[in-house]
Formats: sequence, C-alpha cells, structure tokens
Amino acid sequence: MKPPFSPPPSSSSLLSLRGKGRLSPYLFTLFLFILFVAVLYGEDFMCIFGEQLQLYSTADTFFASSSSSSSSSSQRVKRERKLPFAVGKTEEGCDVFSGRWVRDEMRPLYEEADCPYIQPQLTCQEHGRPDTGYRQWRWQPHGCDLPKFNASMMLETLRGKRMMFVGDSLNRGQFVSFVCLLHHLIPPHQKSMQTFDHDSLTVFTAKEYNATIEFYWAPFLLESNSDNAVVHRISDRVVRKGSINKHGQHWKNVDIMVFNTYLWWMTGLKMKILLGSFDDEVKEIVEVSTEDAYRMGMKSMLRWVKLNMDPKKTRVFFTSMSPSHQKSIDWGGEAGKNCYNETSMIEDPNYWGSDSRKSIMQVIGEVFKKSKVPITLLNITQLSSYRKDAHTSIYKKQWSPLTPEQLANPVSYADCVHWCLPGLQDTWNELLFAKLFYP
Ligand SMILES: *[C@@H]1O[C@H](CO)[C@@H](O)[C@H](O)[C@H]1NC(C)=O
Ligand SMILES: *[C@@H]1O[C@H](CO)[C@@H](O)[C@H](O)[C@H]1NC(C)=O
Ligand SMILES: *[C@@H]1O[C@H](CO)[C@@H](O)[C@H](O)[C@H]1NC(C)=O
Ligand SMILES: *[C@@H]1O[C@H](CO)[C@@H](O)[C@H](O)[C@H]1NC(C)=O
Repeated sequence: MKPPFSPPPSSSSLLSLRGKGRLSPYLFTLFLFILFVAVLYGEDFMCIFGEQLQLYSTADTFFASSSSSSSSSSQRVKRERKLPFAVGKTEEGCDVFSGRWVRDEMRPLYEEADCPYIQPQLTCQEHGRPDTGYRQWRWQPHGCDLPKFNASMMLETLRGKRMMFVGDSLNRGQFVSFVCLLHHLIPPHQKSMQTFDHDSLTVFTAKEYNATIEFYWAPFLLESNSDNAVVHRISDRVVRKGSINKHGQHWKNVDIMVFNTYLWWMTGLKMKILLGSFDDEVKEIVEVSTEDAYRMGMKSMLRWVKLNMDPKKTRVFFTSMSPSHQKSIDWGGEAGKNCYNETSMIEDPNYWGSDSRKSIMQVIGEVFKKSKVPITLLNITQLSSYRKDAHTSIYKKQWSPLTPEQLANPVSYADCVHWCLPGLQDTWNELLFAKLFYP
C-alpha cells in the first residue's frame, strides 16, 4: 500500500540521486519551485540575508529592545539590534503607555504665551478658558518613570537632520507641541516657522542646527479629495487606492518620521475608495467598511516606509487614534452634553468610549504584527481617553462667526476633538522622546 504522503526525500537520498548523474523529476520540480518562490519573494529573500549580515556585523552592539509588553509583539527578534538614536532602554517589562495621571504643580512644561507657534484654534487661555488644572497632569507609567523631555538633547540629535509629522490636524497639534517644547533654546533670529504649497507643508527651522521639524498635511496619508490644507470640509470623502506616493514624494530624506491618521476615515458610513485617478471622467469607486479602508491605508504606509526609510539610520513612529469626547453618556454623564464645561478627567481606568476605536485599534495591531517594517507605535489612545477635560471646547478661534443660537448653547459648538496647548499633547511628545532614546 502506498503511504498517503510521500515522505520528503532525505538529504542522503538526494545525494544518491545526484550521484546517479540523472536529474530526478523530484529534484527538478523542487528546483523549479524554489526558483519560483525566490522570484516571487525576491525582496524578502534579500531581507533575510541582509538581516543576517547585520546581525553578524553589529553583534557586539546588541541589546534587547523589546522592553515594553505592548510593543514586544511588533519588535521581533531581528529588531533586537540597537535602534538608531537609542541611548538606553526602558526598564524591562515596562509598558510606558500603561499608567495613570498624577498631579504635578511643576507643569505646564511651557506657557501658552511663551510659544508663538500655537495656532489660535488651540490657545485656550487666550480664548478665555477659566480653569488651568488640565495643564497640570503628568503621565506616570505603572512599571517605570518616563525620562524628562531634554530639549537640548533633542535639538543636538536633530543637528543636520529632518524630522517630520505627517497626518491630520491632531498630528499638527503634536508637531506644534514638539516645537514649543524646544524652541526656547534657540534665540529669536535663529529660528523660523514658514508654510509652503498652500499650507500643505509647515517648516520650523533651527538655523544654527541646520535642522527642520516639519508638518505635512495628509489626513488619509493617501491622496484624497480632502487634501487641501485650508479648504477640506468635504462631507463626501473619497480616498484613492495605491496613491501614497502622491504625498510620499515630499517625505523623502526624513530622519525621524511621525505618522498619524484616523479621524478622517470615521465617516460613519462605508468609505469610498477610488480605483483609478481623480482626473478620470467616469470614476471607478468602490465602497468598503471603515476597517477595510483603514487597513488599506495602514498597509500603504508600511509599504512606503519599507521602500523609503532606512531602518539603520532613521526612525518611524505611528501615533494611534486620538479620542474625542462628544457624548457625555459614554462616561456616565448627562445625555445631550459633551466635553463642554468638563474640568476633571474620567476616573475609570477601563474607560474606552463608545465609538469605533476598538475595531480600528485591532486593525492597527493586526497590520503591525504581520509586518517586518520597524515602526514604533505611540499608543496614546487609552491614556488620552481619560482626558475629557483637555479639549479646546469653546475656548478657541472659531472658523466662522457663531450664530445667536449657538452662543446660547455652548455644547453645540464645543470642540471635543482637538486639545489645548500646553496640555495633553505635550505628554504624547514625552512618550515620543522616551521611545526615541530609550526604546
Ligand atoms: C540633557 O542632555 C544633555 C546632552 O545633550 C546633557 O548634557 C544634560 O545633562 C541633559 N540634561 C538633563 C536635565 O538631563
Ligand atoms: C544640512 O542638513 C541637510 C540635511 O537635512 C544636509 O543635507 C546638509 O548637508 C546640511 N548642511 C550643512 C551645512 O551641514
Ligand atoms: C459647569 O459645571 C459646573 C459643575 O462642575 C456646574 O455647576 C455649572 O452649572 C456648569 N455650567 C454650565 C454652563 O453648564
Ligand atoms: C494600545 O493600548 C491599549 C490599551 O492599553 C491596548 O488595549 C491595545 O491593544 C494597544 N494597541 C496595540 C496595537 O498594541
């Protein structure tokens, strides 16, 4: 009787076959198969060999970098060589994103009035916010302490380099916070903030350092019909598949990259994906679930990083979803209310909120887990979800004058998406600092 599977030829039988001087059909098929796989996955084959070479050449500068439990799955064995910019490491087993907020009278880290770069949509004190307590919280991880944000170390690291934030208005907030945290070290005539390309690109330059910190507006990362940095309030959003190079061409030669994208995918409806070009007369559009659309965006980003960022010299970060606080009932408040007039944070450590954040976080987890591309996740969603007190609410410059009806009901126009500066986003940058230097 024949066995159900033929056993694989052992190496000795292969040798003996070869010894007979005749190429067996077995061997020939195997050879064809290997050739086929090698062609299909040529790049990965090269990667595997490349990684091994690096492992040997840098063996004595090794240290394990998979320290935090949240990122250990995304930092696999092969990434345990020293990461660029690392000067140390976070304590073994400490997940810096898991912790609690503690009162700190030494905060804020800078004053609103001392940072001229904060856009008027985020200067809450200037726009009459009566309370200041939201600025006096420090994030305390459960397993270790965060390093202090060292502005001079950050600036020295950026000497001759280009750092860029790419994404939506929330990432713009993080960018501005980052600049605010270090600009005081640079004398007035040695620094500038300029915008280019109809405000798509904002560049902070530290002249004597020959360093730039930039923000590039691309709310979906991919090309979309919301790409105009000024006029982008489009209700019927369309994203073009496979179009990341449209914007990505402007991100070349960046040394430290910080991506985000989330809010714009949340239309509450299926997402419209354009398959051809925005110039096509008849546009081919398919509608997919928010999660599938977002997954497509994530994969495009990883592919762009793989093809354009050198993991031996550069670092890439991805900031997870910034939570909104639009419905008080989510945290046990009164129906019909939102973040307006909230001056304390949510105490329930398990609070997460009601919207689709969970399924999107799952997509991020899945896509990152499957990928070999070294990206550091800044998992700020949970720690920010407690902070219903930290939004700009009504204390900001309005895009258009408010109507008497709105004025009579502040809840109706409170911004429960963006964050006051100084404030919560300074903590995101402290975490970025921690992950950059102590991965
Ligand atoms: C900040 O970093 C610099 C090195 O760039 C170091 O000399 C200095 O001691 C650090 N400051 C603090 C407070 O750790
Ligand atoms: C300034 O930095 C850029 C990289 O951002 C580099 O290409 C250039 O050579 C630097 N110039 C000087 C004078 O150091
Ligand atoms: C704001 O909240 C306080 C309690 O924290 C409450 O006394 C006050 O009436 C609220 N103001 C408005 C306008 O809702
Ligand atoms: C981010 O943190 C949250 C809460 O700590 C966790 O549930 C989630 O799995 C983390 N996400 C990823 C992708 O690691």
